[in-house]
Amino acid sequence: MTVTISGKTQVYAVIGDPIEHSLSPVIQNAAFNALNMNCVYTAFRVKNSDVANTLTGMRALGIMGLNVTMPHKETVIAYLDWIDDTAKFLKSVNTIHHKDGKLLGYSTDGTGTLRALKENGSDPQGKKVVILGAGGAARAITYSLIQEADELVVLNRTVSKAKELAEALKRKFNKKISIGSLSSNDIKEKISDSDILLNTTSVGMKPNINQSLISPDNLKSDMTIMDIVYNPYETQLVKDAKVAGVKVVSGLEMLIYQGAAAFEIWTGQQAPVQVMRKAILEQNIGV
Ligand code: ATR
Repeated sequence: MTVTISGKTQVYAVIGDPIEHSLSPVIQNAAFNALNMNCVYTAFRVKNSDVANTLTGMRALGIMGLNVTMPHKETVIAYLDWIDDTAKFLKSVNTIHHKDGKLLGYSTDGTGTLRALKENGSDPQGKKVVILGAGGAARAITYSLIQEADELVVLNRTVSKAKELAEALKRKFNKKISIGSLSSNDIKEKISDSDILLNTTSVGMKPNINQSLISPDNLKSDMTIMDIVYNPYETQLVKDAKVAGVKVVSGLEMLIYQGAAAFEIWTGQQAPVQVMRKAILEQNIGV
């Protein structure tokens, strides 16, 4: 069923720059339609210099929820009334809820990834997880994973960034966290007894579709691979993993579950995840 826009339609959107390739409108409108909610979700390209005006406009127009993507995830924080602990640690907000006249900020990137792993049969509880990368995505993902995993390893091209991230996590959580470089020795050693390997770097993204940080010989059949790059849909790492018989969780699952978390914050209702997944797969993105 498709919602008919009326005077009662509630408006949601994603803001970012660029924004035209965002899949969030596809996911969220599919969810609103499935639950027959009188809501619509669109995308606004917002310049850095217009972030403050945008949030003033959100209040004035009664826009009920926003997703926030690059490059505004940190900038929006200054204009919100409250942010949750995760967003505070990450200095990053990807979901804003306009509730009772207040703008509330959340980060669902990490919780989305955690849920993607769990729902796809690779619960990190008690497991050793290797993360490739130490940028914004890695920070969000490790923050959620460390709360459930037993041990975390952060491997990054710039080792000082891995160190910084590990130290910030250690200050907050009493867990085993180690770091390393992307050298073949470090990768081989750290992966050898790990359960889950998660790529958060942009390596393998179009147009560099033949690149992977992991040599196929280092993959083990009893581990799970997740690559947050979903463009192409199957990165070189994912292709190699499939050939080696390694379990794979698609990067699209992160997108679906961070969207599901935002939907649940806004509506208080359980997100129709299957419908959201189907909508995204029908886009044939990056294949
Ligand atoms: P995001 O928000 O997507 O995480 P980011 O904060 O810019 O983006 O982080 C990008 C990550 O990908 C970093 O870990 C980066 O490594 P450096 O810290 O050494 O820059 C990693 N990355 C990007 N291109 C890479 C490449 N060609 N090889 C290895 N790592 C790469």
